[in-house]
Amino acid sequence: MKIAVVGTGYVGLVTGLVLADLGNQVICVDKDQNKLDMILSGTPPIFEPGLEEVLKRTLKSGHFTAINSIKDAVQASEVVFIAVGTPPGEDGHPDLTAVRIVAAEIGKSITKHTVVVNKSTVPVGSGDMVELIIREQGVPAELYDVVSNPEFLREGSAIQDTLRPDRIVIGAKRREAALKLMDLYAPLQSQIIVTDLNSAELIKYGANSFLAMKISFINALSRVCEMCDANIVDVAQGIGSDSRIGSQFLNAGLGWGGSCFPKDVQGMVKTAEGLGYDFDLLKEVIQINDEQTINFINRIESHLSGLNGKTVGLLGLAFKPNTDDIRDAKSLIIIEEILKRGGTVRAYDPVAADNLKEVFGEVTYCSTAYDVAEGAHAVIMVTEWNEFKNLDFERLGALAKGKVLFDGRRVYNRRQVEGSGWEYHTIGSR
Ligand code: UDX
Repeated sequence: MKIAVVGTGYVGLVTGLVLADLGNQVICVDKDQNKLDMILSGTPPIFEPGLEEVLKRTLKSGHFTAINSIKDAVQASEVVFIAVGTPPGEDGHPDLTAVRIVAAEIGKSITKHTVVVNKSTVPVGSGDMVELIIREQGVPAELYDVVSNPEFLREGSAIQDTLRPDRIVIGAKRREAALKLMDLYAPLQSQIIVTDLNSAELIKYGANSFLAMKISFINALSRVCEMCDANIVDVAQGIGSDSRIGSQFLNAGLGWGGSCFPKDVQGMVKTAEGLGYDFDLLKEVIQINDEQTINFINRIESHLSGLNGKTVGLLGLAFKPNTDDIRDAKSLIIIEEILKRGGTVRAYDPVAADNLKEVFGEVTYCSTAYDVAEGAHAVIMVTEWNEFKNLDFERLGALAKGKVLFDGRRVYNRRQVEGSGWEYHTIGSR
């Protein structure tokens, strides 16, 4: 099939490349020439395991290219994906400016029947908005369909998630448009849910809000564990073993961050509010998430008898492992709070440090995990990269001023850490 994908962010680039790898003819579009140059030279502008190989392969096979003209891409394609960013706006509603601009450009370019697919995460009613914008460009109704096809890929496992999704959701007004996408996705052999536009849009917000709620629930329970000397890992295992609940997304930690959950939970609250429903439950989910990190910092501060004049080492900066993304990363709040309370920060991350440097110039960025311990009064595990999981605590301890570890992701074994002469503190147990 001939496909255009507008936007080369996480969703757009990964979707475009996977579809090209499946044998479709794909043109990705972006207005940023630097990004296009990188992509065309075989270097993905984002860090994502496996992406570079797929990019190189599809460029070589001729199934993939990237250009800056929406018009040329639309006119060469039968299906056009909108995969541009919908960042959080000032009022909590997502900012749909890019979607509107792209929809208008697509409308101006349509010359034959085109299925316009919205993959960007958008509030309910956005499919209708895109349809109207295209109509306003003078495109007759029979020449296009607007379809909602939300994306559920996770950063760090984006290719696998795209190739093996739990489900594919297609929201469409006309059967023919849904069938077109079903044909496109047939090789993935996944469950396909066909529904209307509004329901498809709500599935995405609903899924991310539910997952964030699951994490906030286990984090709230982790606080109770700390108070009654129970262990959240065992509690989560016991709860998650009930197949009605499921064991995934029950890892207690510093809380959820990233480019999706914060924006989508807020977007869900705002969407509901606009429709006249006060989604108090989700407001609480957000509050628990905010408190989880602050509570951990308060524990560190109280344990060190104040942070003023203290040096704290941070292991990991990205919002989760296997990505360089720092959007709403817990490291941002942790660093801000330590600096505000008079401390200094040493930090290391295998790939995300450069992004952090633009935000905090005053942090000492280290080149290895061991460097962060140099002169530190405490070390915090912030992002559970694999390379941190087998640290030599004797070596780390020889560099540290205080052998105190705060494990914000529950990756270490207390016995082992304490056996190396370190104090061990974590989330969800004493
Ligand atoms: C999420 C959704 O999972 C994905 O379906 C959607 O398309 C985009 O948003 P992503 O943001 O890439 O994906 O990361 P995810 O793996 O879901 O983790 C989100 C956050 O939750 C991270 O900060 C992670 O550390 C945290 N998390 C996750 C926990 O704290 N505990 C868990 O058990 C799981």
